[in-house]
Formats: sequence, C-alpha cells, structure tokens
Amino acid sequence: STVSGSDVARTKVPFKNITIFGSGMMGSGIAQVSAANEYHVNLVDLNKGALDRSQQYILSSLKRIARKKTTDERMQTNYIDEVLSRINFTTESEHAVASSDMVIEAVVENIEIKQNLFKSLDPMASPQTLFVSNTSSLKIKDIFRDVSEKRKERIGGLHFFNPVPQMKLLEVIKTDTTKQEVFDTLFNYGVSVGKVCVVCKDMPGFIVNRLLVPYMLEAVKMLERGDASAKDIDIAMKYGAGYPMGPFELLDYVGLDTTYFVAKGWYEDSEIQKMELVKPPSVLKKLVEAGNLGIKSGKGFYEHRK
Ligand code: 3HC
Repeated sequence: STVSGSDVARTKVPFKNITIFGSGMMGSGIAQVSAANEYHVNLVDLNKGALDRSQQYILSSLKRIARKKTTDERMQTNYIDEVLSRINFTTESEHAVASSDMVIEAVVENIEIKQNLFKSLDPMASPQTLFVSNTSSLKIKDIFRDVSEKRKERIGGLHFFNPVPQMKLLEVIKTDTTKQEVFDTLFNYGVSVGKVCVVCKDMPGFIVNRLLVPYMLEAVKMLERGDASAKDIDIAMKYGAGYPMGPFELLDYVGLDTTYFVAKGWYEDSEIQKMELVKPPSVLKKLVEAGNLGIKSGKGFYEHRK
C-alpha cells in the first residue's frame, strides 16, 4: 500500500546536532533552515573556498529573510548573527560526525562519491546517528550499499528544493530497511524546519524530479527542433501554465550539469532504461561540455552577470 504524509505521527525531534556534507547551494540551504530552527549544524566541505562562498550565500539569503521579519536594523543583525552562530563551517569531518545525531549529504550527484562518503563515515559515527541523502535522482538504498546492516535501519532520504529557504516542499523517503521510528523522526525534522512534507517510495527522482526533469528535457528538444525560442518557451510556461520560472530559466537556476547528469544516469539506468522521455538532448550535452552550466558559471541558455 502507498504511504502518505498524513499517516505520520507528529512528535518532537529528539536531537539538535546535525552535520551536512557539501556546501553548495543545497547543503548551504539545508544548513541555513536547520540553524534558523534551533539546530546546531556542522557544514563540512573539503574545499575552503566553497565554505567561504557558502557563508556569503547564506548571509545574503538571511538578509532577505531578516528584512521581511523586521525593519529594525539591529534586530535584523541579531537574527542573522544568531542563525550564523549555530553553523560551524569546517573542513574537519571526523570530529563533526562523531558528535552528530544526523548526517545529511548534499555532495555532487555521483553514486560512487556518495557511497564512499557514507562507507568512511559509518565507523566514525555513533550507532544511533541517522544517515541521510539529499539525492535528486539516485535510489537511497544504492547510496547506502556499503554501510553496516545495523546502520541500514537508520538511513533515509530528505530531498529539498532550490532555493531551500524559500521552497516549502520536502520529499521524505523510507527505504525497505529504514525503521519506522527513524522515518518518523526524518519526517518530523522536516516539519520542524518549516517544510510541507510528502512521502515517496525509494525510486529515482521521487515525485518532483520524476515529473520535472522530462518536462525540462522536452523544452530543450523543442528548442533543438527550432519549434520556438528559449525565451518564448519560458514566457509561454510562465504566462500560460503559471510556473514561476520557465524551463530554461529553471535549467540555468538548478544547473545544466545537474539536469544533464540526472538525465544521462536515468537513460542508462536498468529500471528506467532507454526511455525517450529522459534521453539527454545534444544541445544540453554540448553546453555542459563547454562549461556553460547556468547561473553558477555565468552562462547557460542565457547570459548571467556575475
Ligand atoms: N533565500 C531566501 N529567500 C529567497 C531566496 C533565497 N535564496 N530566493 C528567493 N527568495 C524570496 C525572496 O526574498 C522573495 O520573497 P517575498 O516574495 O516574500 O518578498 C521571494 O522569494 C521571491 O523572490 P524574487 O522576487 O527575488 O524572485 P521570484 O519571484 O522570481 O522568485 C523563486 C524566486 C522563489 C526562485 C521562484 O522563481 C521560483 O519558485 N522558481 C522555481 C524554483 C523551482 O522550481 N525550484 C525547484 C527546482 S528542482 C530542485 O531544486 C530539485 C533539485 O534536486 C535539482
């Protein structure tokens, strides 16, 4: 039978200490919403420069939120300082993980990297610690292939959306080894950081990306065929279907590389194999290979001023 979010008992999350791996847009956003809701966060990245960029990204997002909370500049600063004081930006993972109740990964969308990360963290973490992935396209079960059998009871998926502080949705994923109480905690953590939680089986793409990725790819194929310009397709979907961004704006926003690797992975995947719907369009491949990844590189389908 299908599980539903409305079946989950609402309880208080029994911990406060979280470690997040990967300080890109997703990891930064998850750190921010957690810290804004009383959690103590270690944000780990091997790259010091990425941590510095993350701090700037979180700061500018907090400024927007603070300005909406109050016009009093001192109170704005207090709010920003308080949230930032709960985030420890660090390159040291061992100490961070040893003292955490939950570890969330938001590193690059590559199965081997994720598998190796959790394999190496397993012996460092307390047996009680929850292991969670923010994958957008992989199966949770596959990511945790190499952790101990005991840990497999304490794994799950929390899939956030970009920009994390603004997007209300969280997809919560239970694998067939996840204990019910662990799943309930993950769901309630989502509620505690202000998200609307939905439940989905452990399948590639979960709900949103399974629908959104084919839609974005189809837009690229329309462009490839010369049916309409990127700009007109974007205008059409915004004004004709009520989307906040058109498909090309969204591709530039989430990163062309992210979408390309998701499509490629699915096209080669044994469960979704050779679905024309997810065949990576050659225009997308060419742009990614040329380093045109969207807003983060300054150019994707559109030019973006840095
Ligand atoms: N932090 C805090 N607040 C933010 C923010 C951020 N990073 N980005 C935007 N906001 C807030 C603004 O302050 C503003 O708040 P207000 O309306 O209360 O004043 C509001 O969001 C709207 O922002 P803007 O006026 O600057 O611009 P837009 O109206 O264009 O909204 C948007 C920006 C929220 C990003 C909107 O365009 C949108 O919802 N786009 C679609 C995003 C989307 O589809 N995301 C999902 C992508 S798929 C994904 O993430 C899955 C992954 O696995 C790939």
